[in-house]
Amino acid sequence: MSDFSIAQLRQLHELACKVARIAGDYLREDQLRRRKVALATREKLNSVDLVTAADEGVEKIIKDTILAKYPEHAFIGEESYSAGEEKRFLLKDGPTWIVDPIDGTVNMVHMFPMTAISIGFCLESIPTVGVVFAPFLGGQGMMYSAIRHPEGGAWLSEFGPDGPITPLPLVSPPPPLPIDAPKGCLFFGEYGKDRRDHPQSNLTKKAANFVNMATEIGGRGGKGGMVHGIRSLGSSTMDMVYVAAGQGDIMFEAGCWEWDVCAGIAILLQTGGIVVDSNPPSDLKDSDPIPMANLGGRRYLAIRACSEDSNGRSARAQQEALVREVWKRTERLDYQRPM
Ligand code: IPD
Ligand code: CA
Repeated sequence: MSDFSIAQLRQLHELACKVARIAGDYLREDQLRRRKVALATREKLNSVDLVTAADEGVEKIIKDTILAKYPEHAFIGEESYSAGEEKRFLLKDGPTWIVDPIDGTVNMVHMFPMTAISIGFCLESIPTVGVVFAPFLGGQGMMYSAIRHPEGGAWLSEFGPDGPITPLPLVSPPPPLPIDAPKGCLFFGEYGKDRRDHPQSNLTKKAANFVNMATEIGGRGGKGGMVHGIRSLGSSTMDMVYVAAGQGDIMFEAGCWEWDVCAGIAILLQTGGIVVDSNPPSDLKDSDPIPMANLGGRRYLAIRACSEDSNGRSARAQQEALVREVWKRTERLDYQRPM
């Protein structure tokens, strides 16, 4: 375990919360300016992979603030990564910030409010502090955050003109998972940016996975999952924090990156959720333990925290059973890291 004390982690959390709010003010002002001047966008991978001056502006605010205080820490940000030559997974064991300045850039372009500033901090490659600030939700923003530590915690705060309105601790024992899960679950899944069209493309298979999850029990050759609903918010960060907060049950996304999920995973893990690879391992037996996700693996399946159920099944047993049920309905997706 790292030699960071809870007091040090609290300082990092406080700094991340503070800079997330500064970045949120910047984005709200930016949206006001748009009433006069249309937002300029540039394409990265394709016409749905967009970057705006605000993405770069917010990343600079966050990076400069954090590195001024902690120059010895490493920093991985979506926009610096996209602009750079180095495309390997850069996370090492030392203290490292992983930041998405704006998750849900397409939403922001359309003024759809599912847009989040996502600030994660890893120790020994494990998401340890997470702050996700959605500046267009609630009065003046909603913040989900956590410190992963026995004396840490996870919180949800709504902001108003005078600051936070009663932060809510997120860890009150959440209910058991639905007894026949995935039946009855709320499922978050993203179509993502890989829009290639052929029978084996990621988009074709993702769509099949989502239809499997939604179809009635017995349908689709036994793959029907009859979930209560499928939600696609356009922000993997928001999908992850809703599941972390128990405001949904399952998050499934492949093709996104470590900065889309790092902060959300810190919050999810602190509340008692789990995250695994969204592809089923090829040779996993029923008795084998389920491996957790690789943060740089670009495929994530998260299950919310839960209490013991009426059959005496532990939270972990319910979560692992649900993971196996989702995997049964999942075609394997292929997202490589650029070399
Ligand atoms: C994207 C969003 C989207 C997900 C993509 C991400 P961006 O991030 O999280 O929901 O499907 O994989 O890249 O571009 O808005 O920062
Ligand atoms: Ca993102």
